[in-house]
Amino acid sequence: MIRLQGVSKRYKGASTYAVRDLDLEVRPGEIFGFLGPNGAGKTTTIKMIVGLLKADQGKVLVNGHDLTLDPIAAKRSMGYVPDKPDLYPRLTGLEYLNLIGDVYGVDGPTRSKRLAHYLEMFQLTEAVGDLIQSFSRGMQQKLALTGALLHAPALFILDEPMVGLDPKSSHLFKEIMREHVKQGNTVFFSTHVLEVAEQLCNRVGIIKQGELIACGTMEELRTGRDRDGSSLEKLFLELTDEGGSYEE
Ligand SMILES: Nc1ncnc2c1ncn2[C@@H]1O[C@H](COP(=O)(O)OP(=O)(O)O)[C@@H](O)[C@H]1O
Ligand SMILES: [Mg+2]
Repeated sequence: MIRLQGVSKRYKGASTYAVRDLDLEVRPGEIFGFLGPNGAGKTTTIKMIVGLLKADQGKVLVNGHDLTLDPIAAKRSMGYVPDKPDLYPRLTGLEYLNLIGDVYGVDGPTRSKRLAHYLEMFQLTEAVGDLIQSFSRGMQQKLALTGALLHAPALFILDEPMVGLDPKSSHLFKEIMREHVKQGNTVFFSTHVLEVAEQLCNRVGIIKQGELIACGTMEELRTGRDRDGSSLEKLFLELTDEGGSYEE
């Protein structure tokens, strides 16, 4: 789970907040979609959740661990796939995965079993012995995903996971997210594509210019009845830039 309380971030020299006074709760067992246009503050929020950026104000709790007070326990309990995975080009895929397995202390038999499962699913079994620099972008993303799932994290966080993936891979990504929450875990991912969120998410939050402007189930958002009773359909139209094509 994730709990953000009054979280704000302003980059050095910036005149406006990248994220402002954000309150958010993501519950165990749910797939939560974090929606918003480019530059809205999604990546900044995610970096604060995974501990790559420090919030200026507010509190970040992950699986019950305060990120400031107990960062190691918090990080141990999550798996993270960034928007542009930066893997080690001179390692082979398998060397990379074993490195991750060592860092997270995944024992041999468990490691083999999980690797076999994901590599098979992603059709990486053959290529995994090659250098990462020879992998396509999609393959690198799948490798990053496998690495992030290797320690079966209670919270799985992905930043724009569908970008650059072919339809088959993106289908697999969705399968993996569903599989992960079925085991009682939590998935949090950002996207600017409404359709993906619609297919997958139990709940979504919409961020715009650093502020959370709506949060709820798709049904709640669709019928435009959020906590304040404001019209969310309009927000969606603005978000997705689809003019009048949005309907129930
Ligand atoms: N490292 C940075 N330094 C300064 N400003 C940044 C940095 N990263 C992001 N920003 C700014 O913060 C805002 C939010 O960006 P970001 O969190 O990347 O949005 P999103 O992921 O929703 O596209 C944008 O205005 C962006 O220009
Ligand atoms: Mg981003």
